[in-house]
Amino acid sequence: MPYPMISKNVALAAVFTVMHVVTLPLMAQEGKGASAAATGNGPEAAVEQGKAKAIELCQGCHQFKGADQAGTVGPPLLAMKARFPDPAKLRALIYDAQKASKPYTMMPPFGRNGLVSEQDIEHIIAFLYTL
Ligand code: HEC
Repeated sequence: MPYPMISKNVALAAVFTVMHVVTLPLMAQEGKGASAAATGNGPEAAVEQGKAKAIELCQGCHQFKGADQAGTVGPPLLAMKARFPDPAKLRALIYDAQKASKPYTMMPPFGRNGLVSEQDIEHIIAFLYTL
């Protein structure tokens, strides 16, 4: 009996079409939201950009939420706001850990070596404060 088969397939196709019509714009919307956050200037954008920088520059040595290939050279970065309530301390440490921590630290002097801008450091701190 070919007829019922066909009508079942047609009905399924119709259901999938409707699902796509509904979900595709939603997915596009989500994508837009993410790229706006990554390029915008709001606090969420700062956190997103800081997270990207931290994954690029810090996870080789530090474990933190969102780093899935983290090393263990340095201590895990957690409870950052409680442990480093003064952002100036973090700023100094990220700019030049050899000066802010100890001269023989493994942590590179990111700011002094021009690996991060002042703006990058602010973004990284915004992200660290979410940990
Ligand atoms: C090559 C390894 C290395 C990299 C890369 C590195 N760090 Fe570190 N970091 C360390 C080590 C080792 C310490 C331990 C203290 C010290 O030696 O100064 C440390 C200490 C810290 C501390 C103090 C933590 C605590 O609990 O006392 C913070 C905050 C920190 N690093 C942030 C960062 C950030 C942010 C980045 C990326 C921009 C980064 N580190 C990249 C090795 C590294």
